[in-house]
Amino acid sequence: MDLKEKVHAAFEQRFATEGKLYASAGRINLIGEHTDYNGGFVFPGAIDKVIMAEIKPNGTDKVRLVSVDFDNAYCEFGLREEDAPEPSWARYVFGVCREIQKRGGKVHGFDAAFAGDVPNGAGLSSSAALESCFAFALNDLFNDNTIDKFELAKIGQSTEHNYCGVNCGIMDQFASVFGKKGHLMRLDCRSLEHEYYPFNPEGYTLVLVDSRVKHELADSPYNKRRASCERVAAKLGLETLRDATHEQLNAIKGEITAEDYLRAKFVLEEKDRVLAVCDALVAGYYDTVGRKMYETHAGLSKDYEVSCEELDFLNDVARECGVTGSRIMGGGFGGCTINLVKNELRDTFVATAIKRFAERYGHEPKIYDVVISDGARAL
Ligand code: GLA
Repeated sequence: MDLKEKVHAAFEQRFATEGKLYASAGRINLIGEHTDYNGGFVFPGAIDKVIMAEIKPNGTDKVRLVSVDFDNAYCEFGLREEDAPEPSWARYVFGVCREIQKRGGKVHGFDAAFAGDVPNGAGLSSSAALESCFAFALNDLFNDNTIDKFELAKIGQSTEHNYCGVNCGIMDQFASVFGKKGHLMRLDCRSLEHEYYPFNPEGYTLVLVDSRVKHELADSPYNKRRASCERVAAKLGLETLRDATHEQLNAIKGEITAEDYLRAKFVLEEKDRVLAVCDALVAGYYDTVGRKMYETHAGLSKDYEVSCEELDFLNDVARECGVTGSRIMGGGFGGCTINLVKNELRDTFVATAIKRFAERYGHEPKIYDVVISDGARAL
């Protein structure tokens, strides 16, 4: 059964009717990690892995949900309830409903079944895909699509902040909503100005290697990283690190903790790398793109300290195989590396990574070839 059939079978079984289908995508990010909540630039794109939902208004004030991937687990909540439901998957939907209502949008009762093929906890933003799928759908079903796409992304982000305990930036939800087939987007996370870049690096392919080390962003060091950056920005009298310079940072080095210094140093370096990679991509300088990716990995590992042994190992294997660029992707603490690989090297690299990782850690990593696709949509 494909995803659509799976979702429909569950929907029909529980609700004995037919709804409308929506989907939204997970994302990759070529470069620009932990820059979004610092008002910096990121360079993501939506991928061909999605969360799909079948939804139908039910004429009540209740939301009734079936999570196909959790053994058809069922949950319902009232639209006037204050407390978020227990299962974490239902909290995302609850949060989206509440955030739409807070903004004056309409949400009426509905039935929904959903499932996805975005791997969970792999750094591919399955939660953003879930949020933007429902935000898009509820905008279509109850608001005549009057909520603009920027607001849809912010609804997802506020859901993370207010109902899931993650103080994330806007990158994941933005990529999930604005994703465009065959294109990455350079997003200025302060102004939300964005420019699409055709992504078709001739002779190269993007491969994700999923360590299958799970991370949980909520209550995790993620929020601590953000707090470090905010402390340094405040010390500099700035709203975010976006406008900070290396000179300014070095001038206050003695007045902040060594840890905060390293976090901020990484952010400033990463900010510059994103712009350099955008230019290099347009010029076809893939070696430069790749070199910057390795630099990002080193910074994320040593200065930002969001890597882990398994991801550092995968990064080393990539380098030894002659992969052009490789780095940990997403929030960190587990998940995937993203690798820019010459076509002729792809199979050897994948085989080597699987073999060596399994020998060392006792389980095989999962491999995904990236296809850049559209974001949130009705099907
Ligand atoms: C997670 C967050 C994003 C972003 C990345 C790191 O995916 O949800 O907002 O901060 O980590 O770049």
